[in-house]
Amino acid sequence: MNLTKKEKSMLDGEQGEGIQKAMEILVALGEIYGAERMIEIKSAQISGVSYKNLGDAGLEFLKEWTEKGAMVRVPTTLNPAGMDLREWKRLGIPDGFAEKQLMVVKAYEKMGIKPTCTCTPYLVGNLPVFGDHIAWSESSAVSYANSVIGARTNRESGISALASAITGRTPLYGYHLEENRKAGLIVDIECNVEGISDFGALGYMIGKKIGNSIPYLYFKNKKNKNISQDQLKTLGASMAASGAIALYHVHEVTPEAKKGNINIIIDDAERIIIEDLSEGYSALNSDVTEIDFVAIGCPHASLNELKKISNLLKNKKVKAELWITTARKTKEMAGGLVKEIEKSGAHIVSDTCMIVAPIEKLGFRNMATNAGKAAFYAPSHCGLNVRFGSLEKCIEAAVTERWEW
Ligand code: F3S
Repeated sequence: MNLTKKEKSMLDGEQGEGIQKAMEILVALGEIYGAERMIEIKSAQISGVSYKNLGDAGLEFLKEWTEKGAMVRVPTTLNPAGMDLREWKRLGIPDGFAEKQLMVVKAYEKMGIKPTCTCTPYLVGNLPVFGDHIAWSESSAVSYANSVIGARTNRESGISALASAITGRTPLYGYHLEENRKAGLIVDIECNVEGISDFGALGYMIGKKIGNSIPYLYFKNKKNKNISQDQLKTLGASMAASGAIALYHVHEVTPEAKKGNINIIIDDAERIIIEDLSEGYSALNSDVTEIDFVAIGCPHASLNELKKISNLLKNKKVKAELWITTARKTKEMAGGLVKEIEKSGAHIVSDTCMIVAPIEKLGFRNMATNAGKAAFYAPSHCGLNVRFGSLEKCIEAAVTERWEW
């Protein structure tokens, strides 16, 4: 790769061992993908924060890097950890797990990283603009940044995003290059797609069908004229989970597909049609009827979503454990809404989520959720049976501890 003088000095260790290690990782990556040079980034976002996923080996690796004096040089935020960093005891997180989790977050903080612990960094201050080059690793945030904002990032691993944060650079390949951002497949969506769970089911189906290519989505039904950012965030999260989609375009909605920019589609793009969402709903559902855990907020809930949840919970008491996961800053911005929601017995949980927390140690068996991504991962990552459906249905399940079709 062609490195600048400054990048060479990083690689040669003239700026310290921690930076040298980071540059070595990026050069190796660049060589694998045929990048000619590095490019400067505006921000980084790092996954690999939950102790549940990292384990002791990951914690040691981080500590070692910290001891080499590595510091980040661009604004960098963290993905959800394995627990609410303040209220973990109330949620029943075991002491041993909490101790290790706090060590992980401390190691990141030592490098100058903000412990935001959210998968929606773009809602709480780490907000790139169109065309910015960034190095993000949370798959749902990568999808949102690329597709909804029009920033440029590859689907980084936690390690490569951290290396980019430390050097302020990433190898120039993949989605950083204009020519690689064209859609290879057109998806005509003929049915009405309504709430968050519908967008989750749709995302699941598209991800399953097309793997990791770039889809161009046409919402044909007139009722889908105004797609919200919350709907796009859940759609992208779901596609990134069942497939590995890091970028999608929505006709006349997302920035690169505004005004029907057909140059964003390759010439011989194939076309598929989605007529209804039943395939997504049935793949993400088990047949349990008793519910002991309800999880909403995947990706982390926005202020708007909190408002909706608050309305649905008015004058209700929940019987099942109900977690509404959101960024700590969103929770702070929600002000009086938090009390309103928690009056029902629900918990607004920050810094973590239903998938990266050690849910399997908390004794739950059957989870209800309105999130396609959570429904997809909960059986394999948390050993839970899942019921997947609308927000209204999930609130009803939290109140009655039952799921009836
Ligand atoms: Fe976020 Fe956890 Fe879902 S990291 S996207 S809430 S699985």
